[in-house]
Amino acid sequence: MPRAEKQPEREIRCVQWHLEEFVRCFKWALVARDEFERLKAANPDTLTDIQRAARFYYLHQAGFGGRIVNPSYGYGITSAPRLNLLRIEESLSAAHLRLARVNVECLPYSEVIARYDGADTFFYIDPPYWDCENCYGPGLFSRDDFTKLADQLAGLKGKFLLSLNDIPGVREVFKAFRLEEVRTRYSCSNRKNVPAGELFISNY
Ligand SMILES: C[S@@+](CC[C@H](N)C(=O)[O-])C[C@H]1O[C@@H](n2cnc3c(N)ncnc32)[C@H](O)[C@@H]1O
Repeated sequence: MPRAEKQPEREIRCVQWHLEEFVRCFKWALVARDEFERLKAANPDTLTDIQRAARFYYLHQAGFGGRIVNPSYGYGITSAPRLNLLRIEESLSAAHLRLARVNVECLPYSEVIARYDGADTFFYIDPPYWDCENCYGPGLFSRDDFTKLADQLAGLKGKFLLSLNDIPGVREVFKAFRLEEVRTRYSCSNRKNVPAGELFISNY
């Protein structure tokens, strides 16, 4: 997998095994555009594992929309920064509490569906958007995967809800299912609040 996909795993290990040192990286730090740009420009190969994890956390939390590929500085006109440098440990602990009773898989979608499908299963499926198949790294998901996914979902024992962009190709591939139009706005887009049409695709 590409570097951006692998980074969160490294960060988790640093938090688990070197929490005090990780938190110490933020002592006397500020949420500032200048610092954001300095960290963004830093070469990760020159940093220790812990410094790399701290850099990733800072850029992810202080960046706009949590983007990790080419992030840009996030700020609100009326709100304090999302990254609270005085509450790093509490924020991590809240995430840990939320995830402590969750089973985290990392498998191709077809295997996850096959393993967990059953009469009582509900899947929410959030695949790459049509026309954004390669956004998460080369070779992970291709245009053909939409058809493979639709075929697999046709034989599902449980229920599913899938969301995708509302375009003719998506409507064609998933025409066997219930399609519901949803109007939304992409607030993480480069252009502010772009109106968009999405489809909720389901088998119920
Ligand atoms: C639209 S994003 C979903 C984002 C997620 N629901 C969220 O709110 O953060 C699509 C996700 O599908 C994952 N993905 C891409 N190809 C995949 C595959 N073949 N099997 C499983 N997951 C895949 C990507 O890594 C990405 O996290």
